[in-house]
Amino acid sequence: LVLILDYGSQYTHLITRRIRQLSIFSLCVSGTSPLKSITDLSPRVIILSGGPHSVHAPNAPSFPDGFIEYIGKNGIYVLGICYGLQLITVKLGGVVRVGEKQEYGRMEIEVVNNGGGDVKGLFGNREKGDKQVVWMSHGDEVAQLPDGFEVVARSQQGAVAAVENRARRFYGLQYHPEVTHSPQGMETLRHFLFDICGITADWKMEDVMNEEIKVIQGTLGPDDHVICALSGGVDSTVAATLVHKAIGDRLHCIFVDNGLLRYKERERVMDTFEKHLHLPVTCVDATEQFLSKLKGVMDPEMKRKIIGREFICIFDEFAQELEQKLGKEPAYLVQGTLYPDVIESCPPPGSGRNHSHTIKSHHNVGGLPKDMKLKLIEPLKLLFKDEVRALGKILNVPEGFLKRHPFPGPGLAVRVLGDVTEGNALDILRMVDEIFIQSIKDAGLYDSIWQAFAVFLPIKSVGVQGDQRTHSHVVALRAVTSQDGMTADWYNFEHKFLDDVARKICNSVRGVNRVVQDITSKPPSTIEWE
Ligand code: XMP
Repeated sequence: LVLILDYGSQYTHLITRRIRQLSIFSLCVSGTSPLKSITDLSPRVIILSGGPHSVHAPNAPSFPDGFIEYIGKNGIYVLGICYGLQLITVKLGGVVRVGEKQEYGRMEIEVVNNGGGDVKGLFGNREKGDKQVVWMSHGDEVAQLPDGFEVVARSQQGAVAAVENRARRFYGLQYHPEVTHSPQGMETLRHFLFDICGITADWKMEDVMNEEIKVIQGTLGPDDHVICALSGGVDSTVAATLVHKAIGDRLHCIFVDNGLLRYKERERVMDTFEKHLHLPVTCVDATEQFLSKLKGVMDPEMKRKIIGREFICIFDEFAQELEQKLGKEPAYLVQGTLYPDVIESCPPPGSGRNHSHTIKSHHNVGGLPKDMKLKLIEPLKLLFKDEVRALGKILNVPEGFLKRHPFPGPGLAVRVLGDVTEGNALDILRMVDEIFIQSIKDAGLYDSIWQAFAVFLPIKSVGVQGDQRTHSHVVALRAVTSQDGMTADWYNFEHKFLDDVARKICNSVRGVNRVVQDITSKPPSTIEWE
């Protein structure tokens, strides 16, 4: 195991992911965790992440007492990155001071000592004098190394860029090898983990699956039943499929058609659930129930609340019916919680990262009934999204399903602006959206886009169709690229593509005479219009 101690850098998750990409299992815990929670994991290597603090700040986060002794006694390798390097420096008797020149962004560093090409050195696989571009982001710098440490690379400004103390197995990088802006960063991590630390690449998704199945089987009693709300998204589908493989039909899934789904969505996902994955799913058509409650509601937050509330009622009924049928309450609830949600639950103080770890209900708006005494099964809680997709592939979830664009829990309610029940807004939107998405797929662009969809605007404009003036709706097309949905850029289609799509929409969807494209990034906009 490679353990990452998190000191609040925005890149910490990336370190964990990069190491897993090398088929090495890695976990991330708060950098201020008690010693026992570190020793319990028996790591072979510990990486101290970067962070936004100065090591001289009054409450600068640090590893627990006894950490250095534990490392020494157990021969554990340590790599400090940025703040992590500075922490090692001050804790072992060196000096860190405010840098004369701060270094942010792309910088060149030079190998000043490759230890004579000995591969046990951080840059042993590179020539002395070798230069590479790296991504720096620091105000403080190492001014004096602790005893036994050597500088192995310097920045073009002369600052310490990499250090090592081979005897004590301490290594440090002032830059961020985990980001793509450090093009040789992966090579350095690979060299560190395989050649220096002697780690073997043995973390495979098949093992993850088998291990997780064993855990589920060991956790549940022989008569325990489990419920799961399927949203039609990747996470809940993969989680349910895994649990189904572990306990068979003691899993009971529900899929709710709230009337806010895309064109043929219910048929499509139910087909995958039943025919392809053989999941035991109850499909509830609650269109009337949702739409009657949403009638006349204009405020987007109110829409979300209503949708959350109705979902809870339906879920509650489902659980009660199941209890009557089984003669006992279901004991567990499956959630598709992912690793980033878990890491975010315990960021170090001052990191500025989100602290909320609320139970992720499939619509993210309501939460589940408080009096429901269900225990949670979260079989994906150690995985990142791309790993969930890899697991889904092994579990035979169709590739096309695994690559679907994200779809918000409140569905088309956030894509029809204003009253969703007004006229035939939902039907119009479904048809426009289908034409847009199908055209994107036909053009082979679907996988290069994070998310694409249409938005129904509650306004009409004048047009001329045939020989007649029309007064019809305006629809907007939105397509964005993004890594995680937190920031996004608009997708630049070729004009010919847009021309074809706009023509197709106006010619085949009655009630639409104008198509516009959203060309704002996030920020300042959001991805959805709400
Ligand atoms: P915004 O519009 O905030 O959206 O830029 C960022 C990403 O989150 C999705 N989204 C949701 N996903 N439940 C979800 O599961 C929701 O309530 C929800 N609201 C927005 C949105 O589609 C985009 O991918």
